[in-house]
Amino acid sequence: MEKLIRQAIEARRNAYAPYSGFMVGAALECEDGRIYTGCNIENASYTPTNCAERTAFFKAVSEGVRKFRRIAIAGGSGEELTDISPCGVCLQVMSEFCDAEHFEIIMAKSEKDFICRTLGEMLPVRFRL
Ligand code: THU
Repeated sequence: MEKLIRQAIEARRNAYAPYSGFMVGAALECEDGRIYTGCNIENASYTPTNCAERTAFFKAVSEGVRKFRRIAIAGGSGEELTDISPCGVCLQVMSEFCDAEHFEIIMAKSEKDFICRTLGEMLPVRFRL
């Protein structure tokens, strides 16, 4: 758990957030133990902005990985980490690949200060085709 959070905090250093100033890092653990990290990547046109969580998911899926255990996220303005939870769009992306009862979302303010919830708790009703 602490290692995954540390990797999310580390990934946050690459955040490209010149518009909001809010930098986010994510570390996604796959079923086989591999970890994919991600950061938010903003855009002058705003809507193309990609959240840290989706960056990590898209990196993994684009390399053929589709089974995931948990994700740690950390975010804030400047150096300080604040309370954070994934946005609805990222939860919907998670629901495409993850089991709602088992996939865990770790929202961290530090390696020791975090909240953990299942995807089902965060997004009780999901759109599926
Ligand atoms: N953001 C994330 O990357 N993940 C979250 O969980 C919440 C929001 C980003 C998007 C945008 O670049 C900035 O944080 C402010 O919304």
